[in-house]
Amino acid sequence: MSFVGRLAFVTGGGSGIGKAACQLLAKEGASVVVADKVVKNVNETINSIPSSPTQMHLGIDLHVEKSESVGNALLQMLEKYSKPPTIIVNCAGITRDNFLLKLSEEDFEEVIDVNLKGTFLVMKTFGKSIVDHGITNASIINIGSIVGKYGNIGQTNYTASKAGVELLTRTASQELGKMGIRVNTILPGMISTPIVETVPEKVQEKFMSMIPLKRFGRPEEVAEVIAFLASDKSSYITGASITVTGGF
Ligand SMILES: NC(=O)c1ccc[n+]([C@@H]2O[C@H](COP(=O)([O-])OP(=O)(O)OC[C@H]3O[C@@H](n4cnc5c(N)ncnc54)[C@H](O)[C@@H]3O)[C@@H](O)[C@H]2O)c1
Repeated sequence: MSFVGRLAFVTGGGSGIGKAACQLLAKEGASVVVADKVVKNVNETINSIPSSPTQMHLGIDLHVEKSESVGNALLQMLEKYSKPPTIIVNCAGITRDNFLLKLSEEDFEEVIDVNLKGTFLVMKTFGKSIVDHGITNASIINIGSIVGKYGNIGQTNYTASKAGVELLTRTASQELGKMGIRVNTILPGMISTPIVETVPEKVQEKFMSMIPLKRFGRPEEVAEVIAFLASDKSSYITGASITVTGGF
């Protein structure tokens, strides 16, 4: 898989799955824009990714839920590269877990804003720029979750946001297909990243007992699927939801 000459934009690139995606895309030759709200982690990712004379990486302080911040990210990229990215990976995501009857309105809104609205803002802003630049081969990869299909106790806000991401993606694929933009969702199961460290041990054990492969996934294993969906090897796949769950 070669991404030489390709430009990738990865939200949530400072940690976990997003960081692993940045590392793999850079290893395969892409110039990578690492965007995250935690600037220290953006710099760490930039320092950890391979580079060659044909690659130019960039770090961006991004808050996906704010349209101004997303617009600024695009402007910074157009200034540096004179073109929008043709690989867009929406990895930024948060949890604010609580039982429905105890869940605050703030925690509901924050999760919907980051996970669902953030994905919408990036797709809309960057999708428009891709079309305006006459680019006809681009791939957007959104990260949903397997719990967005089945639900999960303590995560009404999160599961609703991830179910939303899946259908936002499918509908976008129907609108953007004729413009040469493919849009797909990855539905990870339990992947060992900082987000999972907030899950109580008992709940982790319950999940483990339901995973046929008997282990949690690694962020690199999700990054491989991201790279596949970004590449021309998946040229006839759009509107799909691909599970990466160890069989859960
Ligand atoms: N790890 C899992 O088991 C798992 C399972 C299913 C889905 N997911 C999803 O995968 C994606 C990546 O999660 P992860 O496991 O790598 O977690 P993570 O916490 O390691 O990474 C998430 C990144 O998103 C960034 N972020 C959060 N809010 C942001 C905002 N408003 N603007 C910009 N950046 C923001 C964080 O700073 C962090 O770097 C998330 O969307 C998550 O919901 C993860």
